Amino acid sequence: MNSDYSDRNPALGALYAEHIAAVAARHDHALEQAGASHAIIYSGNPRIAFLDDHHMPFKPNPHFVNWAPLTNLPFSYIVYTPGEPPVLIYNQPRDYWHVVPGAPDGYWTSEFDIRVVHTVDEVAAHLPEDREKCIVIGEINDDALAFGIERINPTTAINILHYARGIKSQYELAIMRLASQRGVAGHSAAESAFRNGEAEFDINRAYCKAVSHTDAELPYGNIVALNEHGAVLHYTNFDRTPPADSRSFLIDAGAQVHGYASDITRTYANGDDGLKALIERMHIMQQKIVAQVRAGIDYRELHIATHKLLANVLVDAELASGDPDTLLETGVTSAFFPHGLGHLLGIQVHDVGGFMENESGTTIDPPSGHPYLRLTRVLEEDMVLTIEPGLYAIDMLLENLRGTPAESHVNWKTVDWLRPFGGIRIEDNVRVLANDRENLTRDAFALL
Ligand code: GLY
Ligand code: MN
Ligand code: MN
Repeated sequence: MNSDYSDRNPALGALYAEHIAAVAARHDHALEQAGASHAIIYSGNPRIAFLDDHHMPFKPNPHFVNWAPLTNLPFSYIVYTPGEPPVLIYNQPRDYWHVVPGAPDGYWTSEFDIRVVHTVDEVAAHLPEDREKCIVIGEINDDALAFGIERINPTTAINILHYARGIKSQYELAIMRLASQRGVAGHSAAESAFRNGEAEFDINRAYCKAVSHTDAELPYGNIVALNEHGAVLHYTNFDRTPPADSRSFLIDAGAQVHGYASDITRTYANGDDGLKALIERMHIMQQKIVAQVRAGIDYRELHIATHKLLANVLVDAELASGDPDTLLETGVTSAFFPHGLGHLLGIQVHDVGGFMENESGTTIDPPSGHPYLRLTRVLEEDMVLTIEPGLYAIDMLLENLRGTPAESHVNWKTVDWLRPFGGIRIEDNVRVLANDRENLTRDAFALL
């Protein structure tokens, strides 16, 4: 696989027909269960800010992106009828205010019956006449965009499609490898900027330049956190001036290719050997968890296993004392590691279906006391998920332990040492195999 991110990449083209066949098959099943004959997948449209005439960045319907690598084609539709090639109603407005989509081009074109239109009014002529037999999948914020179809996002069909998206096709896996490669190039540039003592704002610019993304093209807002800022889980400020002393750096940043994301976190120390050793321990612990990923594993058990391993890290680092079960039960590990071990990854960074027990929409709760775990499924081959343990000095949570049985298990002096460094998170993107795993992130770093 070359690092060609375009939709002319022949390696992606070679896998695309098989992907479309899989997407079509899941729509066949969804339509049958929903008692409908045609799925109309709407790409979406940009939203206008309140009382304004400016658009917010366009976010395409993920169901549309699942069909085609068309992330910037608003007011367009895919019409799918089982047994027929999908029709793509490709909207190319006559608009001299904006850059409009070019003529359809790329490996994906051969899988569609493409009808180019220039206004939304022209769409109706390409839709099935019997609207009663259609369902729409997409965000319809103006009735006119549904063309008289009343069944919009029926739950039965949506559940089937969401559950199925948990398993990636070879085409999606190839794209996600590229998204990982793109992301690690940014991580490397950002680490250099950190070593240069640059401000968060400039580190972020170095990242965006290296991945060639505007802010709006990033799969999620970058977390570029120096020093204490690493303890704010979703820190998305960008200080314009560098701190006097850049002691530590946590970066959680991804990239996208054809609408599929990578989601990568690394943490670096500058000068403090104790922090450097703790980061190294977290890498080793994270790799131990990654090594447990395989089909048939219950992800909730991996999350709990991580808490027990983290307890050992806390004891080794003299942040806590006690046996792993006590540190887990008294809430010590949760105060240091208050988020989930990870989530499904795909078109959405927190991809859909993480709680689904089956395609009918039954859900699996996270373990009690762990409300932020976003993946509770038993792992299956070709799922892609993140493994992202963390360890932070979050005073708001640690202070809650005062006056409880946990208090005596925390070494508050070492917490004082950790506080100026914020925290540590190590996040990889991992594909599940039958009895093994593929680490997209570490493979991509190795290719750098
Ligand atoms: N970047 C968001 C997350 O790691 O889940
Ligand atoms: Mn993540
Ligand atoms: Mn992340």
